[in-house]
Amino acid sequence: MARLVMVSNRVIDFNAAQQAGGVGVAIYNTLERQSGFWFGWDGRIDETDDPQPKSVSIGGYTTVTEPLTAADYNDYYLGYSNSVLWPVFHNRLDLAQFEAGYYARYVEVNARFAKHLAPLIEPDDVIWIHDYHLVPMALELRKLGIENPIGFFLHIPIGPAQALLAIPENKAIARALGAYDLIGVQTQTDVRNLIDFLQQSVYGRLLPSGRIRVDEAELDVGCFPVGIDPSDFAFGPGEEEALAAAENDNVHRIIGIDRLDYTKGLPQKFKAYGKFLEENPDYRRRIVLSQFAPPTRESVEAYADIKAELESLAGSINGRFGELDWIPINYIHRTIPRSELRDIYRTSRIGLVTPLKDGMNLVAKEYIASQDPVDPGVLILSKFAGAAEQLSDAVLVNPYDLGDLTQGLKQALEMPMAEKRARHEKLLKTVRESDADAWGRSFFAALVKAGQRRIGRPSKSSPAMGRALERLQGTAKKNTTDRMAANVGT
Ligand code: F6P
Repeated sequence: MARLVMVSNRVIDFNAAQQAGGVGVAIYNTLERQSGFWFGWDGRIDETDDPQPKSVSIGGYTTVTEPLTAADYNDYYLGYSNSVLWPVFHNRLDLAQFEAGYYARYVEVNARFAKHLAPLIEPDDVIWIHDYHLVPMALELRKLGIENPIGFFLHIPIGPAQALLAIPENKAIARALGAYDLIGVQTQTDVRNLIDFLQQSVYGRLLPSGRIRVDEAELDVGCFPVGIDPSDFAFGPGEEEALAAAENDNVHRIIGIDRLDYTKGLPQKFKAYGKFLEENPDYRRRIVLSQFAPPTRESVEAYADIKAELESLAGSINGRFGELDWIPINYIHRTIPRSELRDIYRTSRIGLVTPLKDGMNLVAKEYIASQDPVDPGVLILSKFAGAAEQLSDAVLVNPYDLGDLTQGLKQALEMPMAEKRARHEKLLKTVRESDADAWGRSFFAALVKAGQRRIGRPSKSSPAMGRALERLQGTAKKNTTDRMAANVGT
C-alpha cells in the first residue's frame, strides 16, 4: 500500500501535547488510518550547525523531526511565514513586513527540509505538505529528483489576488505553487482567489480540462473543507447527567476559544458584548462571556498589540458592568487542555466564533459536535470564517458590524427550542458528513489521481498506487467532501 508522508511546520506529539491546533489534529486523525510518517519541525530551537532529522515512533504513528536554529525561527517562522504570508493571506497588508529580508532563509529552511526528507521517500509514497510555511518545499523536492505525487493543503484563507500580488516575491511563490500536483483549499472563495492569483502573477492558464497551467507545469486545485472527528466530542452513558447537574441554569455561558491572534476579531467581540449589556440591562447577571485566548507568536509585534488592547477592553467592561457576585467577562489568557473542551462546549449555551477572516475554524465544528441534540446551544458564526460556507444554519454575523453582532446575540439567546433543534440537526449532519476522515480520504484520492495525470502514466503502472486508489474509491464516503473532490479542477 502507498505510504502517506505528511509534512507540516509543527509536528505534534499527541502523547505529550496538552493542546493542539486544528491542523495538527487533522493530520493526526489521517495518519492514524494510513501507514506513513509525519515530517517537520519538533518545536525546539537548537544551534546545531547541520541539524539532522530524528525518527520516533509514538503510539500508532512515526514522526521524523528536526529543530530550527534561532535565526531560522526568526526569519522563516516568525518572519516570512507569520509576518509576511500570514497577514497577506488574511488580507492585512498593513501588518506585512515586506522589507525585512526574511525570504532567503524561508527558502533555505524549505530546501533543508527537502534535503532531509528526500532520502526517506520510497517510489510509491504520496507526499502531502501542509500550510504556508512550506510553499517552496515541492519545488525543492523536485530539484532533488523526487517524482512522487506531491500535494499541498493550505489551512488558512487565500485573500484576494490583489493582496497576494503585493508580496515582492509573488512570482516565485506562484511558481513554487506550480510545482505541486494538487493544491487543496478550504472554500470555493479560496479556489477562485488562488486561480485569480496564479493567472495574474505568472499568467497561469485555466485549461479546458479544468487544470491550471503555470509555465510548463499543470496542477489541480480543489476545495476540501477540513473536518473534525465528531466521536472525540461524543458523550457516553451517564456522563451527560453528571454534567447537567453541574451546569448553572441561572447564568448562561457564552463560549469563545481562539488563539490570541488579530485575525480572530476579539476586540470586536468584546466591544459587541459590552454594547449588548448596555442596550439590554435585563441580561445583566444572566449571561457571562468566557473567552479563552491562548498566547501565540508573542514575539511578533502585532500580537503584543492585540494582547494589550484585549486586556484593557475586558477590564473596562468588567469595571463598568460587574457586580460583587457577577463578572461579565471571564477572560483567560491560557491554553485549554483538549480533554476539557467537550464539557466546556456542552455547558455553554452559545458558541461565539467571530473571526474577521479564518481558513475554516474547527472550534465552530467542535461546538456543534458537543451539543445535546435534545437541548442544543446556538452557534453564532462569522460570515468570514471558512466554516460559514458549510455551516449556513448557524446564526451568521458580520464581525465588523457591532450592531449585527449584538443582534446575533439577542437572536441566539431568545431562539425558540424548536428552531434550535432544527438548526442543530442540520449543522450536526454536515459536521458528521464532512469529518476529518472524509477530508483525508478525499484529498489523498485526488492527489493520487493528480500525480498520475502529471506523470502521464496509467494507474496500473504502479500496482501499489493503483491498489491504494481502488481501496479508497471503494470505501470513500458519499458526502459533501467527496462531491467537492470529484469537482477538483472545475
Ligand atoms: O492554521 C494555521 C496555523 O498556522 C497552523 O499551521 C498551526 O497549527 C496553527 O495555526 C498554530 O500556529 P503556530 O504553529 O504558529 O503556533
